[in-house]
Amino acid sequence: MQIYAIEPGKLLRIGGPAAVRVIEGEVYVMGKVYGPDSRFTVLRARKVIVKPRTAAKLEITLGPDGSVEEARPEEEVIDVWEDAISKLNLDGITIVLGAMDVGKTTLTVMLANKIANNNKRVGIIDADLGQNDLGPPATVDAAILEPGQAITHLRMLRPIKAMFLKTTSVERVWQDVIAAVKKLSDYLLEVEKVSSVIVNTDGWISTERAVEYKTSLVEKLEPSNVIVIRRADEADSLLKALQEKLQDRVNITVLPAPPAARIRSKEDRRIHREMGYGKYLTPPRDVSVDLKSTPIVNFPICAGMPLKQDLLNLVRRVVRQNILHCELIGGCMVAIVPSLQKKDPEILDMPAGGKVILLPQGWEKGLLVGLEDENNFLLALGRLKKIYYNNSKAIITISKNFTDLSKVHHIRLGMIRLNEQFEEVEKVNYITRLENLVLGKRGK
Ligand SMILES: Nc1ncnc2c1ncn2[C@@H]1O[C@H](COP(=O)(O)OP(=O)(O)OP(=O)(O)O)[C@@H](O)[C@H]1O
Ligand SMILES: [Mg+2]
Repeated sequence: MQIYAIEPGKLLRIGGPAAVRVIEGEVYVMGKVYGPDSRFTVLRARKVIVKPRTAAKLEITLGPDGSVEEARPEEEVIDVWEDAISKLNLDGITIVLGAMDVGKTTLTVMLANKIANNNKRVGIIDADLGQNDLGPPATVDAAILEPGQAITHLRMLRPIKAMFLKTTSVERVWQDVIAAVKKLSDYLLEVEKVSSVIVNTDGWISTERAVEYKTSLVEKLEPSNVIVIRRADEADSLLKALQEKLQDRVNITVLPAPPAARIRSKEDRRIHREMGYGKYLTPPRDVSVDLKSTPIVNFPICAGMPLKQDLLNLVRRVVRQNILHCELIGGCMVAIVPSLQKKDPEILDMPAGGKVILLPQGWEKGLLVGLEDENNFLLALGRLKKIYYNNSKAIITISKNFTDLSKVHHIRLGMIRLNEQFEEVEKVNYITRLENLVLGKRGK
């Protein structure tokens, strides 16, 4: 534990983990003023800028890898950010956009603190599938910051509603992400009656597709504000597209990225995700789910129709190997066989038309699944362990903390395979193809 004295005009940069208590004076931290005897924490791998409003004394306790250093005002953006956001009317929706590690999550927290500090309820949506700070990876989550509350990190809030997006690869599901963010923002505004919603996004902005995604998101949400955090020229094509398409409909603010922001490595990002899955699946317990009454909506295996004997014989002739289970799902036959040469399913044409999808026994082992309510909101994540075709049961590992199984209306199959330690071992992108084949539509 150490005592630090700071004067106005100077800035302190605290790297987490750290616990801070203000002994005397007032400091400004992420949109909130902390006075004598107030406290805040800085989480691991995060940096927070402390700006004294008066001469101040802080007591700082650092955890492993925590740090305190003086930041030179010219290398900091806090005043520029503060100036720009204090001019904004934050009623309605504000979307924060920018590349990776430019401070989107930090700005989201700052905006939320500012609004709550004005005695308003503010909704926050984290739409970053890969580096979600509110909920688990592969989800979009909504939380509320109540009037007067302040946080230094999104992880301090509990999501009140979530949607499962199946993967952390936003480029595969961006249309669904837009629908999920819209649904959650409608919920926050209409049901929870918040006055403002802040939407935090992922850092995928540079490719043509990414620009299409982000501009479509803005078009769909009709926000009051879009804030783009700009580092070098990374956001330029996005900015150009936003200005061309939407300038007269939304207020676009451009902010500089903090030069001292910590760049997270791929490894940091993977660890963040894995800690995410584990947190939501432990302490583990296995449950048995009847797939007839609680179907897998996007691939309703065990909820299809049995094949008539003559059709089954025909399928046997086409498949030319032992069939362990076969059923008709949507317009497609699905057959489980002992093994396949490749990892991906094999798709065969039937002589009289129609298709057979061949899946190897055990194809389902380890797949991330979402347990959802009748409105498609996520109730809990699970790890699919095994499907028993003879009695249509799935064994799913969920967290013991989730007890409301009666609310589960259906299951959604994800596109990520986890091992028994809940570490991501594979992206199973063929799930989209299965959905398309049996449901005959894109990724639903
Ligand atoms: N003004 C600042 N000075 C120094 N470091 C900062 C500043 N603002 C944020 N950081 C740190 O930089 C890192 C990236 O910030 P943040 O997580 O807010 O960015 P992001 O754009 O949300 O990143 P991601 O793409 O990973 O979601 C974090 O460790 C954060 O604590
Ligand atoms: Mg972020």
